Amino acid sequence: MKGIILAGGSGSRLYPITKIYSKQLTVIYDKPLIYYPLSILMLGGIREILIISNSETIPFYQQLFGSGSQLGLEIEYAVQQAPNGIAEAFIIGEKFINGESVVLILGDNIFYGSLEFFYRGIRNNVGATIFGYKVNDPERYGIVEFDKEGKAISIEEKPKKPKSNYAVPGIYIYNNEIIEISKNLKPSARGELEITDVNKEYLIKGKLKVEKIGRGIAWLDTGTPEALLQASNFFGVIEERQGLKVACIEEIAYYMNYISKNEFEILISSIPRSLYKDYLEKLLRE
Ligand code: TTP
Repeated sequence: MKGIILAGGSGSRLYPITKIYSKQLTVIYDKPLIYYPLSILMLGGIREILIISNSETIPFYQQLFGSGSQLGLEIEYAVQQAPNGIAEAFIIGEKFINGESVVLILGDNIFYGSLEFFYRGIRNNVGATIFGYKVNDPERYGIVEFDKEGKAISIEEKPKKPKSNYAVPGIYIYNNEIIEISKNLKPSARGELEITDVNKEYLIKGKLKVEKIGRGIAWLDTGTPEALLQASNFFGVIEERQGLKVACIEEIAYYMNYISKNEFEILISSIPRSLYKDYLEKLLRE
């Protein structure tokens, strides 16, 4: 299973924060936003990861993560020339995916709580597995309609009259049919290759599974300054209370045995004096 983080986009609602680089480098409490989706892939056992962004931002990601080997990962990078839509990720990533299945996570999507829904999706995926999360403002999202048996029967992008309150979060699992499906997509009225059209195609083929995510999971938005502040406060409270970090990629690499104790020690020695380093040193001693 390969992983893609789509981390470009225009981020227009966050101007001027996004004047120079993409929003996935902005800060959520004590680390860049992209650490959060990266940590989800790592926890899902995915170690081959492609980061897609615009050409201005890719060098920053390369500085942050390099080849990924210090984390026991293989990280590659690719440019999306313009925000042509989420589904373009699979066309850009075709060579990287190389005939395998793939998880796509949007670089600005944050999940917090038990990730069992995700692990189960990875284990059991046949065609496509996506998720449904109850929201207050369904007009803003791709919305799934379920029948009485809980089977998905329709998906609509930003519907004016939503048929349910279940939005599709930015984490999707696909078998290799995704390549052919995305190559055959036509741009929508807003000029994008829509991920909703991909999911509709799997639905028509009878190969789409939509799993509901329970209320115990936080799916946070980061599209506006207000949402960024809320997410920062949320993780500030949790980290402060538990004394544990969320989305600490070095900790996850060690915990998942992607790196040995010795490699963890070397990694820590490359980090400047900081509370972050203190935290990792404490883990090393435990
Ligand atoms: P959006 O929220 O649709 O858009 P945006 O991030 O560009 O922000 P704004 O609406 O303020 O202009 O994007 C969702 C995520 O997908 C986000 O992480 C950016 C990423 N994305 C791309 O990388 N390429 C794309 O072509 C699109 C449409 C989104």
